[in-house]
Amino acid sequence: MEESEKGSRISGFYKLSIQERLAELNRRVGLAADELAALSGSAGLRLEQADHMIENVAGVYALPLGIALNFKINGQDVLVPMAIEEPSVVAGASFMARLARAGGGFSASVTPPEMIAQIQILDSADLPSARLAILETKSALLAEALEIDPVLKLLGGGPRDLEVRLIDDSPIGPFLVVHLIFDVRDAMGANAVNTAAERLAPRLAQLSGGRVHLRILSNLADRRLARARCTIPLSELAFEGYSAQEVRDGIIAAWAFAAADPYRAATHNKGIMNGVDAVVIATGNDWRAVEAGAHAFAARNGRYTALSAWGKDAQGNLVGSLEMPMAVGIVGGATRVHPAAQANLKLMGVESAARLAEIIVSVGLAQNLAALRALATEGIQRGHMGLHARQVAIAAGAQGEQIERLAEQMVAEKLVRIDRAQEILKSWQP
Ligand code: MEV
Repeated sequence: MEESEKGSRISGFYKLSIQERLAELNRRVGLAADELAALSGSAGLRLEQADHMIENVAGVYALPLGIALNFKINGQDVLVPMAIEEPSVVAGASFMARLARAGGGFSASVTPPEMIAQIQILDSADLPSARLAILETKSALLAEALEIDPVLKLLGGGPRDLEVRLIDDSPIGPFLVVHLIFDVRDAMGANAVNTAAERLAPRLAQLSGGRVHLRILSNLADRRLARARCTIPLSELAFEGYSAQEVRDGIIAAWAFAAADPYRAATHNKGIMNGVDAVVIATGNDWRAVEAGAHAFAARNGRYTALSAWGKDAQGNLVGSLEMPMAVGIVGGATRVHPAAQANLKLMGVESAARLAEIIVSVGLAQNLAALRALATEGIQRGHMGLHARQVAIAAGAQGEQIERLAEQMVAEKLVRIDRAQEILKSWQP
């Protein structure tokens, strides 16, 4: 097994204690004491920090943080932190990253970090003329927008384009919408584009002879896309009683179901978001924004469909790809304030929003593969059962070594239910 001192392959990681795992991560990545404390939960987010983040703070809410292993993305190894409550997700991503690694890992890319601000203009008397008046002033409007955020300007970001759309089929009749395209560099960008939209509003009202109503970003960030691809060598796909061809064709048939049917596509994409959201959350990013963008993008052609695609290459290997909007940042907001988010970015060695987006979309693709491989073969429940059983054991009141023992017994009995767990626990009482 190839395992470097610094890489993302760590054999037997799951068998280590949490302290040993942290020590191993530290050995590979070199984390400061406060970063280690942030990861291990003791200083993940202090109450007073939380109190500055939202209103009426009464506490903090914790989630398990697991580390996905084996990821190689654009030739570089990366340890991926995932904040998620669902069992099997971290193990699934790690296992699929291992299969993808055998085919060279993931190749990922992003488009420029361009967000869209929407400005709704009502009550223009002559919509086509108002539209032209705005378009004729485009250069001046873009020049004005460039001065709104001097820091972003310095970093090479700022307005890129301005479009005017005529919405003619709405419940209140026709109106205009201006799209301001804004390069937000390493930020998620909501603040930057919302500010720009609000600042340009009076000038747009004047030019259009109308009244500006909404001024807000669009979460359908279809100009800020992240893409990942991977090739799984056919030889990696066989397992237990399943031939490699059977697994590969089963995965392709499972994807075809999602490509053709919105009921299946919703679940298929949910599996992708299991991976995507876990990293988005671990880095303090806005997972609702990423979710909204993903599902709107999945329906962009008028019918909701799968975000990923699976097929085979000329050699018969399995090839997968995923393309989706990815509005994530590494500066501003919770990414900067939340100590665990900072430690997680450091763990990944992420120094740009682009690299973060490439990692996230690769994890999404790996997660999708994990689900399809299980569904196309033994079903999802077998892998799920062990961890689920542990959660049921804890909920039933098991403690310490009892947890593992109780979980094992329930799995052996193929009956993982809280009433059964309580019954077994009672039978163990002296
Ligand atoms: C469960 O969280 C996710 C899956 O349902 C995804 C899928 O069906 O593809 C297993």
